[in-house]
Amino acid sequence: MKVVIIVFSPSGNTLKVAKMLEKNLLEKNVSVQFVDITRTRGLFRYRNFGQYLYKHVEKHDVLCIGSPVYAHHLHYNVQDLIKSLPPPVNGWGKLTLPFVTYGGINSGVALQEAGNLLKKTGRIPIAGMKINSQHSLTKIPQITVKVNEGMPGNEIGYLVEELSNKILNGEEYVDASKEFRYQNFKVRFKAKILFREKFWQKHLYPKQIIDCEKCIHCGKCVANCPVQRIEMIDKKPSISHGSPDCIHCGSCVALCPTNAITFDMNWNRWNQLLSKAAAGHGPLPSNEEPKSAVYGTINT
Ligand SMILES: Cc1cc2nc3c(=O)[nH]c(=O)nc-3n(C[C@H](O)[C@H](O)[C@H](O)COP(=O)(O)O)c2cc1C
Repeated sequence: MKVVIIVFSPSGNTLKVAKMLEKNLLEKNVSVQFVDITRTRGLFRYRNFGQYLYKHVEKHDVLCIGSPVYAHHLHYNVQDLIKSLPPPVNGWGKLTLPFVTYGGINSGVALQEAGNLLKKTGRIPIAGMKINSQHSLTKIPQITVKVNEGMPGNEIGYLVEELSNKILNGEEYVDASKEFRYQNFKVRFKAKILFREKFWQKHLYPKQIIDCEKCIHCGKCVANCPVQRIEMIDKKPSISHGSPDCIHCGSCVALCPTNAITFDMNWNRWNQLLSKAAAGHGPLPSNEEPKSAVYGTINT
């Protein structure tokens, strides 16, 4: 059996989970191809996901796809990647398992979206997993509230084991996508009507500011931007015409040693919002139960 794991992970949490899954499968002597699309040069500028997949993904039986949850949704890059998947013939597996990581607030409708999109490509989502993780914005030093610091870690080992067993017994499972619709009406409604990520990105999210005076040309922002938006031109971090939109993951802000890159935002307000969220209050209460889970029922 051959399994392909495709992952997009701006701040590394989903990558950690994907690596745990890969390790678990390799220990069971399953052949795995690992495809991390994060930071792939050109991919997010030209959005040629279909071509990329044809070129880089080997023949397989089972396809696993990992994504972070952004604004209660499956990240839009992963949505577009799934839409570009070739039909499950000629060495492209029919069985699929999406997994998402979220920052302790709410996993929203991300897994449900992944299931629906994968089904539209003709695949069967036999299981799915959501993992409660550190909120990536809380990796930024100016954000002093740390939600789920250090997670995910070994605490999710049993869930990865469960998912990996579902892969091994794939033929025994049925379409599990109905189980991915675990959110109540209120959350689904909010995600659909209020949490419009692309709109938020353009109009609500704070703007990225680069102060070239403070920059020491270390190149960390360039190397780590998950969509390769920042380039070093004449020793200055620059965003050229046609660069992909900022996805507001916060990686450049978190890694910049001189605070030359920041977001134009009121850090106090964000600290208050996130601390309320972590305590289960405010506009983004963190009250999802179970926090992490595997979905998918055996076909008996
Ligand atoms: C712009 C943005 C939006 C986010 N939206 C949510 C959300 O709606 N709910 C949540 O619980 N976490 C949210 N998060 C946190 C991420 O889902 C979480 O940290 C995830 O594990 C990041 O995965 P990665 O490390 O693979 O990038 C958001 C993070 C960012 C940067």
